[in-house]
Amino acid sequence: MTSPDTPAALLAAPLAVIILAAGQGTRMKSATHKVLHPIAGKPMLLHLLDTVAALSPAREIVVVGKGREQVEAAVLPRGVRTAFQADQLGTAHAVAQALPALDGFDGNVLILYGDTPFVGADTLRSMIARLGAPDAPGIVVLTHTPPDAGAYGRVILGAGDRVAKMVEYKDASPAERSATLCNSGMMALSAANLRRWMPLVGNDNAAKEYYLPDLVTVAAGEGIAAVAVEGAPIEAIGINSRAELAAAEAEWQQRRRAEMMAAGVTLIDAPSVWLAADTVIAADVTIEPNVFFGPGVTIASGATIRGFSHIEGATIGANCEVGPFARLRPGAVMDEGAKVGNFVEMKKARLGPGAKANHLTYLGDADVGAKANIGAGTITCNYDGYFKYRTVIGEGAFIGSNSALVAPVTIGAGAIVGAGSVVTKDVEPDALGIARPEQKGLAGWAKRFRGRQTAKKEIS
Ligand code: UD1
Ligand code: CA
Repeated sequence: MTSPDTPAALLAAPLAVIILAAGQGTRMKSATHKVLHPIAGKPMLLHLLDTVAALSPAREIVVVGKGREQVEAAVLPRGVRTAFQADQLGTAHAVAQALPALDGFDGNVLILYGDTPFVGADTLRSMIARLGAPDAPGIVVLTHTPPDAGAYGRVILGAGDRVAKMVEYKDASPAERSATLCNSGMMALSAANLRRWMPLVGNDNAAKEYYLPDLVTVAAGEGIAAVAVEGAPIEAIGINSRAELAAAEAEWQQRRRAEMMAAGVTLIDAPSVWLAADTVIAADVTIEPNVFFGPGVTIASGATIRGFSHIEGATIGANCEVGPFARLRPGAVMDEGAKVGNFVEMKKARLGPGAKANHLTYLGDADVGAKANIGAGTITCNYDGYFKYRTVIGEGAFIGSNSALVAPVTIGAGAIVGAGSVVTKDVEPDALGIARPEQKGLAGWAKRFRGRQTAKKEIS
């Protein structure tokens, strides 16, 4: 039962998404499959799948070819199906390989490209909305007008948004090549039309490939119209080489920095801060120049990240200070007001509220209590070459400079470790733990030494 209040989205036909990713991506010159190269630390294909997830598709099918194991390892855990295209005979041929996975599906189909990851969910929605408009077009093609049309396929419009012709650059006449409206490759149509038209696509063209855009001609043969929806050029950026990957990364970073600043984050030198796709930074955080974020970082309000810090998999609490030149690795947790200074590394380690490690320290597999002070040069020796062990430091403890804490070891709350200690046994709360040779003082020794050596030198 539906009521007049039922959201339109619930009434819409189910959606299937086919993503083409069988191309070899030879121009990347990489052992890693092209669609798995990361942008902002996340494989480009997963950027696309996350966008697609916003449309709640009933089915997602990724067409894979060479390197399928790599792609499947990345997408199968997400419940995505794959279809195999053994030979890359063209974009229409690739879509045809996905048809068996569409068996029994009746609804709309979106065709996307794995190497074109920036298309927006709203744009995809507007393609589907256009497909469902009263004039009932058979195909919606996503177009764009890039600054340089290059070798993109061209789209020639007729009346209104009607597509009169789609032509590949290789097959285009000089007049057609001068058209500025380009094919993004993305397309929406019903599953029924797709099934009916697919066998009618031939390969009589310059590349002897089965071209997906030829569906437009096939539809026209049945008197069914194709229409164009235009997206922003960024949405259609295709990534084929390392240079294009770097350009796409720069574009993504620029957008996300702008969003962060708009949300109240200070980036003193925005272009030198590199964010990951999932970086979460609260308002009133200040980031100094040259900071790199890997995946999995959350920063609470009031924190300051000083220059040249490298941070991944870290949770940074309110009003914390990090760096300059700090390295936070996965599992680093800083509670409110904690401080990590220059040349400090943390891994699977927690600094309790207000705890400090200000200089030249490694904290690995460690738990540091509130307000403890970790002296310069302190190292948690957490690894014996085979296993990892934990160090526990109690609240308010003070670790003297240049101490080696050989884990597993516990320093009690309020305890003090003498500078230069190699601590191999637990230290009781409020005790002094000191583990270094006792100092000797030999009166006059230095003077006698100088005398002896000077005499030797005069003889020789
Ligand atoms: C395609 C379009 C072109 C459009 C451009 C946009 C065709 C014939 N041309 O050209 O109009 O302007 O994209 O970027 O569709 N793929 C397969 N199997 C194949 C061939 C390709 O899976 O047999 C996949 C590729 O992995 C890639 C996508 O389809 O993800 C596009 O293929 P590509 O060869 O890059 O097409 P273009 O020549 O760029
Ligand atoms: Ca391409």
